[in-house]
Amino acid sequence: MHRRYGRHMAIITIANSKGGVGKSTVAVHLAAWLHEQGHNVTLADCDTQQSSSEWIREAIPEVRAVRLENPDHILNELPGLAADSDYVIADGPGSQTETSRALLLRADLAIVPCKASMLEVRALAKATEVLRQAQDIRGGIPEAVIVLSMVGKRYRLTQDMKDAATALHLPLAKIPMTLRQIYADAPGQGEVVWRMGSKARDAGNEVRSLFREILPQAARRSSSKKKR
Ligand SMILES: Nc1ncnc2c1ncn2[C@@H]1O[C@H](COP(=O)(O)OP(=O)(O)OP(=O)(O)O)[C@@H](O)[C@H]1O
Ligand SMILES: [Mg+2]
Repeated sequence: MHRRYGRHMAIITIANSKGGVGKSTVAVHLAAWLHEQGHNVTLADCDTQQSSSEWIREAIPEVRAVRLENPDHILNELPGLAADSDYVIADGPGSQTETSRALLLRADLAIVPCKASMLEVRALAKATEVLRQAQDIRGGIPEAVIVLSMVGKRYRLTQDMKDAATALHLPLAKIPMTLRQIYADAPGQGEVVWRMGSKARDAGNEVRSLFREILPQAARRSSSKKKR
């Protein structure tokens, strides 16, 4: 994961050509977390449904939210947004290949949420085809990491799943996002889970630990000690 540990991951896209895998959930929570770590964050909503920009405006109005409506806008606007922010989090669409391609040609890091059922070589290869094309063109960039999404509390990562990720040179984050009602409730309440009270505590801890795992360089030292 941290092959280019020293490189600043300014543009982070949440990418998976499958719909409904948790991309917007990851995008909004990551933007909120980075903001809370003291960074200047822009959320680029590149999905025509525009759900993540509305959600982040309600949850964390201090995060700048912009909508990039087509591949040309994405290619043209992302560098300028990155120059004005510490991090740009780009939420991708579920199915529009050209939009995903534009994002992956500009991103430094791609976070790929996957349901456990997708961790099988052929499904995973299909879901990440455009990612591999971009990495091939750009000499390995964007770096990518798979995040297991919506897994049952008792799930276990099987050797087959690990092998599928390894076969495609995709590292897998150790911490998964489990299937919890609180994640599904968060957008309707315009909130991120760690601000939703005691019933959301486990979800809040899980998702913040996940972000510290993926982006240790972005975590505030003191807060990462306190919350562990
Ligand atoms: N860990 C989770 N547990 C329970 N529900 C979840 C979880 N993550 C996401 N959801 C819910 O699943 C649905 C799909 O999630 P989300 O919108 O984040 O996916 P997406 O990949 O952005 O979808 P799309 O491709 O349509 O943009 C939403 O209703 C969301 O609230
Ligand atoms: Mg979405």
